[in-house]
Amino acid sequence: ESLAAFAHTLEAWYNQTSRDLPWRRTSDPYAILVSETMLQQTRVETVIPYYERFMKRFPTPVDLANAETDDVLKLWEGLGYYRRARNLKTAMEVVRDRHGGRIPDRPEELEALPGIGPYTLGAVQSIAFNRPFPAVDGNVLRVMSRYLAIEDPVDLPAVKRRIEREVARALAEGTPRVLTQAIMELGALVCVPKRPRCEACPVAASCKALALGATDRLPQRLPK
Ligand code: ADE
Repeated sequence: ESLAAFAHTLEAWYNQTSRDLPWRRTSDPYAILVSETMLQQTRVETVIPYYERFMKRFPTPVDLANAETDDVLKLWEGLGYYRRARNLKTAMEVVRDRHGGRIPDRPEELEALPGIGPYTLGAVQSIAFNRPFPAVDGNVLRVMSRYLAIEDPVDLPAVKRRIEREVARALAEGTPRVLTQAIMELGALVCVPKRPRCEACPVAASCKALALGATDRLPQRLPK
């Protein structure tokens, strides 16, 4: 019940207010894979020009597979975490050689590509293929730990699994390609780490942390 309301309310908000980001104009799985790989450790404003240059230079999986590694790394310069770029190129070689140059839509095939972890798998499945696979990063952990008032530390694998399960259930009630990005958008713009803007939150009325006065305490982290 409440997850269905969460899904529909957030989607309506997202459809009305979301930022126009370049990777939101496409559902090409390769473009989604490139953008989500860049966005994993790097902020949106930084990623935008890199994403646009990258897609212009390597518009398809085969273009990236056939490129020189040095040319790929050169376009990545400044983004850091170069392993991501190397994995992405190696993955596109597999896509070229074993998948006819198209990003596979089967989760098992996608998961087998180098560099594709649970987050990227969920992002491509939900955003590109519109399937109810959770893409849980730090932002999503924060949003869901607050919405559900989960007091246990979010770094515990059991807590991450619970949140993945809840997000998957919410996605199944809604439109995965919209809702995945709506949760990310809420975490980026409203349900921010410090002083969340609850007065601007579309799901404040059903947020458990807000009802308990716990938004500043959540998410909990394991002590270092
Ligand atoms: N961070 C990770 N994925 C994102 C996306 N699709 N849009 C905005 N920020 C993101």
